[in-house]
Amino acid sequence: MAVLEHLTSQQAIDLENKYGAHNYHPLPVVLSRGEGVYVWDVEGKKYYDFLSAYSAVNQGHCHPKIVGAMMDQAKTLTLTSRAFYNDMLGKFEKYVTEIFSFDKLLPMNTGAEAVETAVKICRRWAYEKKGIPENQAKIIVCENNFHGRTTTIISFSNDPVARKNYGPYTEGFIKIAYDNLEALEAALQSNSDVAGFLVEPIQGEAGVYVPTEGYLSEAKALCEKHNVLFIADEVQTGIARTGRMLAVDHENVKPDILVLGKALSGGAYPVSAVLANDEIMDVITPGSHGSTYGGNPVAAAVGMAAMEVVHEEGLAENAQELGELFRSELNKFITTCDLVVKVRGKGLLNAIVINDTEESSTAWNICLALRDNGLLAKPTHGNIIRFAPPLVMNREQLLDCVSIIIKTLQEFEK
Ligand SMILES: Cc1ncc(COP(=O)(O)O)c(C=O)c1O
Repeated sequence: MAVLEHLTSQQAIDLENKYGAHNYHPLPVVLSRGEGVYVWDVEGKKYYDFLSAYSAVNQGHCHPKIVGAMMDQAKTLTLTSRAFYNDMLGKFEKYVTEIFSFDKLLPMNTGAEAVETAVKICRRWAYEKKGIPENQAKIIVCENNFHGRTTTIISFSNDPVARKNYGPYTEGFIKIAYDNLEALEAALQSNSDVAGFLVEPIQGEAGVYVPTEGYLSEAKALCEKHNVLFIADEVQTGIARTGRMLAVDHENVKPDILVLGKALSGGAYPVSAVLANDEIMDVITPGSHGSTYGGNPVAAAVGMAAMEVVHEEGLAENAQELGELFRSELNKFITTCDLVVKVRGKGLLNAIVINDTEESSTAWNICLALRDNGLLAKPTHGNIIRFAPPLVMNREQLLDCVSIIIKTLQEFEK
């Protein structure tokens, strides 16, 4: 088979199944084009994208400004490594640190790498600034967290599928219940060597769990009281997704360490970053951390263009407004049906909980039916379906999506 031969959906699926490792279980749809809120499969069928590559494509597919910046930079200079300076990285660092009001940025590529970086910065800070004895630093994390897939990160996950047979696991993490201030306070009080508290402001992968109002601000206050760094993983919730630039902005919380990824590039390129002020970031010294691709000129150009789009197109405001509309329409609907027990979320990061067991295939089957009706979404855990469209969606498109979702759910009720 010629490499560039046009494939049918089934041929593309068969190729992946035969030649690719089976580390995902994709919905059977093969996409070959995207524009704004839409994607098309290889047979030309058009869909609303209601996942946005797990909130990476907040700015919409193939945004011309982002793609333009990427192409211009790709023709000029792509990679120097950090062995040399390049003329784009400093501009990107200045631009992004000013947006989020931090002194410094450390560029990486993927979300998991950025989380690893935050863990390393936090540990160094613990030994060099807080005075924790060597190798004793602990980081508090939450049950049902999702921070990525590296060996250290899965060491503090409690998802058996993500962890099984990958041991031995990295030590130094204390797991507590999410959205539980008493648990946080108890962990801070009973352990003297705590360096940081790593938290998702909304637990996305776990099923879009929005914590009680006040949780984040009080958790931050507890961290301050115990001289512990508050590390916000905004890889999924950040960059306008929840109706503010950051989900922590809803509670006016300024993290000590901020972790960004995904939509930092608008889905065009892997770009992630860790932000902190000098007194924390200056524990990082030459040779102590790095990445060949981290901070490359294309990433820098793409990152700046992606952030400009968020501001120019008012994506946070749009997410806030459309999110309220989405939840209110679906909440109205669920009072009339038994199939959905709950709608929850913030901005355009939402989920519905299906009235069935976690092991059931109902949510998966609903996603197959949504696909047939022209909308792509995916279950997170068992009976929960996440809804996270690109933030460039307009009101009319959102209402069209709501009617597709309601129509599909009604088909299932019969
Ligand atoms: C909160 C959070 N952190 C980290 C990650 C890992 O990002 P990546 O898949 O780019 O490594 C994810 C991915 O879904 C995430 O949702």
